[in-house]
Formats: sequence, structure tokens, C-alpha cells
Amino acid sequence: MKRGEELTLHLESAAFEGKNIARLNGLVAFVRGGVPGDDVRVRVTRTKKSFIEADVLEVVRPSVIRVAPRCRYVGVCGGCKWQEVDYQAQLEFKRQHVIDALERIGGFSGISVNPTLGSLDMYFYRNKMEFSFGAKWLTRQEMDAEANAGTEHRALDRFALGLHIPERFDRVLDIEECWLQSETSREIVNFVREFCKARGLDIYSTVTHIGFLRNLVIRQSRHTGELMVNLVTLDDRPVLMQELCSELLRRFPSITTFVNNITERKSQVAIGDREVVYHGAGTITETIGKRTYRISANSFFQTNTLQAERLYDVAKKMASPTEEDVVFDLYSGTGTIALHVADDVAEVVGIESVAAAVEDARRNGEVNGVKNCTFILGDLKDCLTKDTGWLAQHPRPSVMIIDPPRSGMHEKVVKQVVELAPQRIVYVSCNPATQARDLKLMTGPGQYVIKEVQPVDMFPHTYHIENVVLLEKMATDDHR
Ligand SMILES: C[S@@+](CC[C@H](N)C(=O)[O-])C[C@H]1O[C@@H](n2cnc3c(N)ncnc32)[C@H](O)[C@@H]1O
Repeated sequence: MKRGEELTLHLESAAFEGKNIARLNGLVAFVRGGVPGDDVRVRVTRTKKSFIEADVLEVVRPSVIRVAPRCRYVGVCGGCKWQEVDYQAQLEFKRQHVIDALERIGGFSGISVNPTLGSLDMYFYRNKMEFSFGAKWLTRQEMDAEANAGTEHRALDRFALGLHIPERFDRVLDIEECWLQSETSREIVNFVREFCKARGLDIYSTVTHIGFLRNLVIRQSRHTGELMVNLVTLDDRPVLMQELCSELLRRFPSITTFVNNITERKSQVAIGDREVVYHGAGTITETIGKRTYRISANSFFQTNTLQAERLYDVAKKMASPTEEDVVFDLYSGTGTIALHVADDVAEVVGIESVAAAVEDARRNGEVNGVKNCTFILGDLKDCLTKDTGWLAQHPRPSVMIIDPPRSGMHEKVVKQVVELAPQRIVYVSCNPATQARDLKLMTGPGQYVIKEVQPVDMFPHTYHIENVVLLEKMATDDHR
């Protein structure tokens, strides 16, 4: 089999990273595009000894789980790749993804995984959208033509404000509508694009590192309706920003704060090194459960508010908190999990490496009148191995809630967690693969047993899945 060859395949199931799996003469094919159950015409893009990769050219016979997509950019934009998959089927694929990770990476067998807890909102569920400015982009027609002809279309030098095209770091798809945030958000994007174009503002280039416009970030509170517009730029142009701010407020009176984040960093992360607030408080207020949070432009906050509450409820239920419990909340971010459980326990200690997040967490504690939470700034690897002075100031934890980034826990952190020996550990993860790797290290003889596994869907129409696992300390004579 050669690169460029065309074949017809039956897509059997969903693989990692949103690809699909097909089989052909003992070879596994990882196929980009299509829906499990489709018969598709594909073009081979890569050949290896045990697998091939291919792109879908045409759906020959559609799958029974296909549904009509809502968005006109489906298949081009990287945002909602599973829009054409029935939602119940999405939830089952996500559960299977968790099972596969536990079995293949964790080496576990026979673990029962609960059905995925679906999102209450399937559209308009995001409280934050990050758009990019790009000078190189493709229209939908050009992307399709490229897929059909198998040729690399030359990206045109134009002005786009939208979302990154997957696997093309320098190309942005111009987006005039998106179903992930509100109508107002869509109108703001279109307005800002026209404003910037009309003034001939230049776009930051990831190649030359020259150009003013970088990102437009919109945060909108689900519960209070507060709305933040944050323009990320290379440098500071106060007169222009004031003008944009006034125009935005005139057209969109629901905007409660406008900020300009400025950064010369070469990475594409939409975070400023310096922030100028042109209108409002520079933060929005959101609620989860009975807590109120002030969120600044650069702080981490779960993007699906309603589902975040359900995720934290799952974590709290698994933790079975009692008023004697001392909880360590590792990777505590802005303190949302700590504050969610605080009323039910004696004390919570959160540890987090980003200073702004720790400041937010402390302020969130104060705003909510919570007195039994302490937030410590530091890298967990250091806090648990060499800078351990803080440990003496708190009782040993009976419960740990751990919510690391996608990369999971450092091996040394896993080791120290096991040595601290809390009775229950609730491991929340946005990456079942690294979670399964870490769980393997925590479940040896005399360590922990997995008691419950609950996938929670935070991002409908994507292959992403949040997974919550309850571990309990084995009794010393329990060697299961
Ligand atoms: C997935 S977020 C969880 C945040 C919080 N639990 C929530 O639900 O909002 C992971 C957090 O871990 C922090 N983090 C990443 N690496 C860390 C490290 N080595 N030590 C401490 N915190 C870290 C990140 O800054 C981020 O706030």
C-alpha cells in the first residue's frame, strides 16, 4: 500500500484524538474524518508496518449514528469534530475511551466504569472563547477543494478572526458564527474584525513575530450574564484601545468589562504579561453551587459552568466528606474544588503553582466568607519533596482531591501522595491516558484500590472527556 492510494473502508469505532479506526488485511487504519459506522472512500496519508493513516474523501454509506451538523464549519474548524455523531453515541465513545486507557495504559481489567454524565447544554455551553487573528487562512471551499484534490492549497494573505485549523498552527479559519457561546459573542467577534480591518491594523505573525493583533477572548458568566472582552496585542496603543472600548460599549451595552492584555511572548497562548483595564472591574463574576467567583482575564476557570458544578458534585460525593476530614486539594487553581467541599470538612489545603490563581483562590475564599481553606503557592513536586515546611502546619490529610493538568502528575508527586496515605483519593483528570498511567503507580500491593470511575462530559461534540476516579486505601491485609 502506498501513500496517496485510494480505498474504501468501514469505520468500526472511535480512536484517540477524534480519529476513527478501520481494519484492512490485518492492518489498522487510523482515519481522519467520518463517523463510526460510515463506509468511506479514503486517501492513504501515511504507511507503517502495523498501521496506516488516511483521510476521508467521501462518505459512501452513512452510519446510523450520523446526525445533521448545526455548524457550517464542521469538518474544517477543529472545535466540534463530533457534531455529526448522535450525542448518546458520543457519551458511549467517551466512556469506552476511559475503559481503553485504564486497560491498555493502566493495565487494569474488569473495572466497572459508570455511564458518562452528559452535559446539560449541548450548545452555547462555553463561558470562554478564545479567537485568534490570522493573516493566513482558507475558506471552507478552499479546504474542501484541497481535500478532494489532495493538493496543498496556498493559504491566502487575508484578514481573519476565528479559530485555528487543526494541525496548521499558522492558519486561522475566519468564523462568522459559532454555536459554543452566545449570539452576542458572535456579534462581538464580527464587530471587532470589522473595526480592526477598517483601521488597517496588522496581525501578529508567528513566523516574523511582528504585528499588533493576537487574540480576542470573550468570557461570559452563565449565571450573572457579566461579559468580558479581552483583546490580546503585541504592544500598548491606549488611544486606539479607548476608541475600540467606547465603540464596543455603545454597540454592546451588556459588556461589563473591557481589558487589553499585552505580550511579546512568542508562544501562541492568549495570556498577557501586562493588563490594562479600560472599562469595568477587569473581572467577571460566576457562581458554582453556592459560591461566587471573580474571574480575571488570565485565570483558569472551568469553561462549561453548569457541568463544572456537576463535576465538582461528583468529586464531592466520592470524597464522602465528614466534619473531621482534612482535605488536600492538589492543583487547586482558583480554589473552586476546595471551596465546593469546604463547608463539609474541618479544613482544606490547596496547592497551586500559578501565583495569580492562588491570589484568586484566596480572594474567592474571602468573598465567600470561607475560613477553613488555606492556599499555598508552589510547584507540587517541590512542595511534597523539599519545601515541606507547610506540612507540619496542617494535620495529615484524610482525603485528597487531585486535579492535575493534561500531563498528569509528576512521578515524585505520585510517590509522595501515596506516602501521605490519605484514606480516600479523588483523582479528577482531563486526560484519561495520563490518569491511567498515574493510577497504575498508586494501586500496587498495600496501596490503593479503584472504587468508582465516573466520566463527565464537559465538552459536547469533541472527543475530550473528564474522568473522576475514587481510590481507597487498602486495609493492610487486603492484597487484591
Ligand atoms: C486542570 S487545572 C485544575 C484547577 C482547579 N482544580 C479547577 O477545577 O478549576 C490544573 C491546575 O494545576 C496547576 N498546576 C500545573 N502544574 C502544577 C504543578 N507542578 N504544581 C502545582 N500546580 C500545578 C495549573 O496552574 C492549574 O491551575
